Amino acid sequence: MTEDLLKRRSIRKFKENDVPDTLLNELFTAAFQSSTTGNMQLYSVIVTRDKRKKEELAPAHFNQPAYANAPIILTFCADFNRFTRWCEQRNATPGYGNAESLICAILDTTIAAQTFCVAAERKGLGICYLGTTTYNPKEIAKVLNLPKLVVPIVTLSVGYPDENPPVSDRLPIDGIVHYETYKDYTPERIDEIFQGKEALQENKKFVKENGKENLAQVFTDVRYSKKDMEFFSQKLRDFIREQEFR
Ligand SMILES: Cc1cc2nc3c(=O)[nH]c(=O)nc-3n(C[C@H](O)[C@H](O)[C@H](O)COP(=O)(O)O)c2cc1C
Repeated sequence: MTEDLLKRRSIRKFKENDVPDTLLNELFTAAFQSSTTGNMQLYSVIVTRDKRKKEELAPAHFNQPAYANAPIILTFCADFNRFTRWCEQRNATPGYGNAESLICAILDTTIAAQTFCVAAERKGLGICYLGTTTYNPKEIAKVLNLPKLVVPIVTLSVGYPDENPPVSDRLPIDGIVHYETYKDYTPERIDEIFQGKEALQENKKFVKENGKENLAQVFTDVRYSKKDMEFFSQKLRDFIREQEFR
């Protein structure tokens, strides 16, 4: 039963109608049944529906269309606050303000978010991940009132689709899967693996519009430049420390 998964695509334009609470709760129930480190469920989800709250949060997501159009915004946060508080209330000594704990919480959070997406898409909803979450975590934390040991990781725009975009390309399976050991890539294999993507009309257009020589340069110089990635890394590092993950 993978047919539905093969047809999925991100949705960035949504109908105005809200998602009923009963459906939302059904989807959360499915999401929270995902595997989780030691069954600790190291995540919290903040639902943003209120128009004013949504506007407050919008600059942190650079007001991107996928955000602005959605009736519901979900911020999935890595959360060691709840578990730490429980330990402290039970005379148990928690030691979770560290990198390993944060990674466990990030994994739990991401897995739960993705299960939510699969369940939501099965129910006819559309979703879009917003990577701006880890670009502006401090700004998001302020609006959402996140305490120490809580870090926003994944934001999802959720709603009923008001567009029907095509399914997007993927690299060939044999370019991704390695049997028994990792087979490092020769220049010829790199050419083969990326040729399909490079040949797509939309990507050729993208290269031209950005005045670049090739698609890779669109990524390195425009979409995910070293300068931007280092800038946002510094912000993220500082914020993680402020949240008392050392
Ligand atoms: C971690 C993550 C962050 C993303 N951030 C954004 C984003 O900020 N804005 C956006 O429009 N799409 C975002 N996307 C969606 C991707 O652009 C999209 O999944 C990818 O282009 C493949 O297209 P598809 O989902 O339609 O197959 C993000 C996806 C992931 C997994």
